[in-house]
Amino acid sequence: MSLDIDALLAERKADKRLRELGEHLRDLAYSGPGLATAIGAANVDEVLSESAMYAYAADVPDFARADAATVLGHLFVLNRPVPTKVIRGALGKGLTKSLDGLGLLAEADGVTTGRASLTPFRSQYFLSDRLFRSAGTSDVTVERPPQVVMPPHASTFALNAYLGDQPPGAFLDLGCGCGFAAITRRRSHTRVLGIDINPRAVAFSTANAFLNDVDATFAVGDASTVGPAETGGAVAGLAFNTPTGFSLGNAELEADRAMAMVAGAAQRLSATVAQAFVIVEVPQDFESAAEVLEEWFSGYGFRSVRTAEVESPYFRISAADVGRRRVPGRCLLLSDRTEADALLDALAARKTREVVGAVVTVKA
Ligand SMILES: C[S@@+](CC[C@H](N)C(=O)[O-])C[C@H]1O[C@@H](n2cnc3c(N)ncnc32)[C@H](O)[C@@H]1O
Repeated sequence: MSLDIDALLAERKADKRLRELGEHLRDLAYSGPGLATAIGAANVDEVLSESAMYAYAADVPDFARADAATVLGHLFVLNRPVPTKVIRGALGKGLTKSLDGLGLLAEADGVTTGRASLTPFRSQYFLSDRLFRSAGTSDVTVERPPQVVMPPHASTFALNAYLGDQPPGAFLDLGCGCGFAAITRRRSHTRVLGIDINPRAVAFSTANAFLNDVDATFAVGDASTVGPAETGGAVAGLAFNTPTGFSLGNAELEADRAMAMVAGAAQRLSATVAQAFVIVEVPQDFESAAEVLEEWFSGYGFRSVRTAEVESPYFRISAADVGRRRVPGRCLLLSDRTEADALLDALAARKTREVVGAVVTVKA
């Protein structure tokens, strides 16, 4: 069952209790590198981008000797059960009480599970829904509750790598999800805010602002209509990690429509820089994703449109792969490998040259 984030926020002193949880986690130095080491991964981006794969593959540790990062990583990133008797010893009394008091732990038959995802990134933390659960090695069950709020994942990090181009004034995190971009960027801007069409995302973002003791504002809003009335005036820059994917009926949003939303929001809010992560299907009569994006943004009068292809196997089906009918093993664009044939058929029918994940930066 997914966490009732509204009920958590409605509890007495929820803000204070979330701040205390953040302090406990920081005191423990529970961080990305600590998590990666605990799980035996090369780096934290990989664990977070492919957490279900790690949950499938990772050995079950000897929990009697496990440290805090191992226990937290199993409970909240790999979404695995941990023997209840080891929790307090590994996490300490204060953190255990804090997690329990916020309803983030569920106990049954001597084992404890997490009731949400809790992702460390540097020394910040992000609560969100869990997308799967795992009973142990070779066991992963996908969970997609209604109005699911994703943990920070590969596309979040892909966009994040370019957000240094944002101007220092007000920053709008469009489609904020769990609030990652707004919260991680707080120190670089005069103010940060986020909107999402999903009210549960707004609730998670609000909780995460408390958890990280960051001053950020989140509200329900639609990227296709958002204007200065909802954002408290103009913003200097905005970014949208768009929920685009393959047009097999599972993309939440078509890429060209997502880019129209970004362009429209930038114009209504007088933003000088707008950035987006987007999955682009490049037709055979186009040279590259950059050319497709140039066309989509033409007509808005932007001064520049710059495309950076994300060099990651997660979001790419190269022209060579399309030609030899192959979807790379680590590609995250399929929710299930059984979709591969249907996808390749659809790409061939639409005369697609390649599929590319890209970060586009437009400047007014
Ligand atoms: C791929 S997720 C990105 C979440 C988060 N920003 C991140 O990078 O991890 C896309 C988010 O956009 C939101 N969304 C989709 N359509 C939207 C719209 N029209 N207006 C505002 N948010 C939207 C979804 O609810 C979802 O939270």
